[in-house]
Amino acid sequence: MLSVADNETITKTGPGTPMGEYLRRFWTPFLLEEELPVPDCAPVRVRLMSEDLVAFRDTSGRVGLVAAMCPHRGTDLFFGRNEEGGLRCAYHGWKYDVTGRCMDMPTETPESNFKDKVRVRAYETAEAGGIIWGYLGPKDKMPPLPHFPYFDLPEDQRIATKYLRECNFVQALEGGIDSVHTNFLHITLSRWHNTPEFIERRASHGEDLDIQYRAGDTAPRFFVHRTSGGFIVASRRVADEDNYYWRFNQYLLPFYTIPPRGAGGGHAFVPLDDVTCWSFNISTRADRPYSKEEIQVIKSGSIPVGPDDAGGLQNAERIPGTFTTVRNKANDFLIDRTMQRTQNFTGIVGTGNQDSMAQASMPAIMDRTQEHLGVTDLGIIAMRKLLLAEVRDLMEGIEPPEASDPEAYATKGTHFVEKQSVPLAECVAAREELMFGQARR
Ligand code: FES
Ligand SMILES: [Fe+2]
Repeated sequence: MLSVADNETITKTGPGTPMGEYLRRFWTPFLLEEELPVPDCAPVRVRLMSEDLVAFRDTSGRVGLVAAMCPHRGTDLFFGRNEEGGLRCAYHGWKYDVTGRCMDMPTETPESNFKDKVRVRAYETAEAGGIIWGYLGPKDKMPPLPHFPYFDLPEDQRIATKYLRECNFVQALEGGIDSVHTNFLHITLSRWHNTPEFIERRASHGEDLDIQYRAGDTAPRFFVHRTSGGFIVASRRVADEDNYYWRFNQYLLPFYTIPPRGAGGGHAFVPLDDVTCWSFNISTRADRPYSKEEIQVIKSGSIPVGPDDAGGLQNAERIPGTFTTVRNKANDFLIDRTMQRTQNFTGIVGTGNQDSMAQASMPAIMDRTQEHLGVTDLGIIAMRKLLLAEVRDLMEGIEPPEASDPEAYATKGTHFVEKQSVPLAECVAAREELMFGQARR
């Protein structure tokens, strides 16, 4: 539970709000690279932390991120012409480059220097990992980009996607941290009822710790272990009488989660405004490239769903040409009550859609004075505490150290079985190399 004031602080991200100022100290993912595929392509509307912006790729390939409102009389630059090194407003032809400088003002006399006095607000951008990043904070505080492990993977071993979540970003982030929901929201009925078919399936997945142990204990114990980028959310389940099954999710400030599987991909929950956010999802594979078909399927979000839709697949089929899911709040996520009775827990297809249902069916900004947190909500409580403490620090002039520590992000999650006698700190120490690699040593 949070006080009214803390809930306000943690959820509001517009310019000038405490959380808004805090988030603006970090680089922010805002587009997939393919949204601006080639120089001089069509500009794209961007809404980020309640700012209306336009992104464009100029003739030389640089990405501009500028205020949507033309500084002349306010026409939306989304309708502008992206031509010869700048974006030209469709109303009277004023033209701006990626730095916001007015390059041309054809309505003024040739001897006028008015164009040198006019700028459109422009933000720094960068490209890495198949994603376009923006920095919306004070120029003199601009940090280096965070160094996520997937930046170093070959292009065909990582796939970045995104889709819209119709709720405040903290709700989405809390869903990423709260891994206990996977025992309910995302499971099949065979797993829920532990049917003979499911037991057989578990047995046939000898190597798959997740399948073997996760379903067996629906009330895992949670712990957090602070790292330089955030913390490890450690969940501990009883594997057998001698061993625990541990899962180490990573929470990285301000809005990233990295699940235990994969080669260091994960999620970013980025506010468009206070009632919608992007779920950015980075799928990774360490050992071999994705095939063309796999890329196509993951990009579209229409991952085929078998009778067993319990996997960690981010299945959230998009309306073609958009990043809005076919199953969404307006159509009750196409809930199928027969499916809910006979097949899976929710009657909703796709883990991504199931997450969206859980998070977007709360009030768009959840009133956290009304909740009742239990023992499995420990990671969420820790995240709120850490975020709020950092926001308060910034209000007192203390900059978030994580924002300027790119290597704090060069980390992965993991999961393993370990003797019950080994304490958490030792489990972490033994996996330091695996999770943090050379960078932290
Ligand atoms: S409103 Fe953009 S040039 Fe006039
Ligand atoms: Fe989920």
